[in-house]
Amino acid sequence: MFVSAALAASPKTVWDGVYTDAQATRGQAAYMTECSRCHGEDHRASGNVIVGAKFMQQWREDNLNNLYTILRNTMPRNAPRSLPEGTYLDIVSYMLKLNGFPAGKADLAIADVADIMLVGKEGPSAVPDFALVTITGCLGPITGDTSFVSAATEPVRTRQPQKSQGDEMATAFAKAAGTRKLALMGVAYNAAGAEPSHRVEAKGFLIRLPEGDKLNVTSLQTNKTACTP
Ligand code: HEC
Repeated sequence: MFVSAALAASPKTVWDGVYTDAQATRGQAAYMTECSRCHGEDHRASGNVIVGAKFMQQWREDNLNNLYTILRNTMPRNAPRSLPEGTYLDIVSYMLKLNGFPAGKADLAIADVADIMLVGKEGPSAVPDFALVTITGCLGPITGDTSFVSAATEPVRTRQPQKSQGDEMATAFAKAAGTRKLALMGVAYNAAGAEPSHRVEAKGFLIRLPEGDKLNVTSLQTNKTACTP
C-alpha cells in the first residue's frame, strides 16, 4: 500500500526516457525542413522558444499533451496542423533531446503524452509565476473587483483560460479541498460564474507576492456546493 501511494504521487516525467534517439533524429530532419527557416538552424530565432530558459518557463509543470497540442494547432505558423500527427511527436522528441532530456527504449506515442510531465532537473516543483493555472476552492465574499478562494488546491497549469467543461470540469470539482488561500483579482468581470460560499473552479494568471499569492482571474464557475470560506 505504501509503495502504490508513492507511485501515485510521482507521475512519469521526461526524465524517464520517453522517446527514442531514432525518433528525435526524424524530428530533427522535420525541424530543419518545416521550422528552421523561422526558428533558425541554431534554434535561437523567432523568440528563442525551442531550447533553454524560455522553453522551460513555458512548458515545465505541464504535461506533454499540451506541448504537442499547441505545437500542432499553431505551428508551422504559416500552416498549422499541416504535418502528420507522428511528425509532431517526432519534433516534440527532438525538442526534448535538445533540452537535455534522455532518450529511452520506446517511441513517444500519442496515447502517452497526457501522462508525462515536463519537469526540471530538481523534479516536480511549483508552477512558474504568471503561468495560467486552475484551482478549486471555496469562494469568499466579493468586494468590488476582488475576492479570495480558501481551502484551495495547489495551482495546476492549464492552457485553456475559459471555464472547463465535461470531464475536465468533473475532475476539477472532484478534487479534495486543499489548504491554500489565494486572493482573486478581476472577479467583477467574471462574476456571472461566481457565488460566494460555494465551491468554485477559478482559472487565471498566478502572481506570487510577499503578502500571498494572487490569481488574475480569467474564468470562474461554481458547482453550487455550499462551503464556508
Ligand atoms: C513562418 C514562421 C514560423 C514557422 C515556419 C514555425 N514557427 Fe514556431 N513560432 C513562430 C513565431 C513568430 C512564434 C512566436 C515566438 C514568440 O512567442 O516570441 C513561434 C512560436 C513557437 C513556439 C512557442 C509556442 C508557445 O505558445 O509558446 C514553439 C514551441 C514553436 N514555435 C515551434 C515551432 C515548430 C516545432 C515549428 C515547425 C513545425 C515551427 N515553430 C514553425 C514562427 C514560426
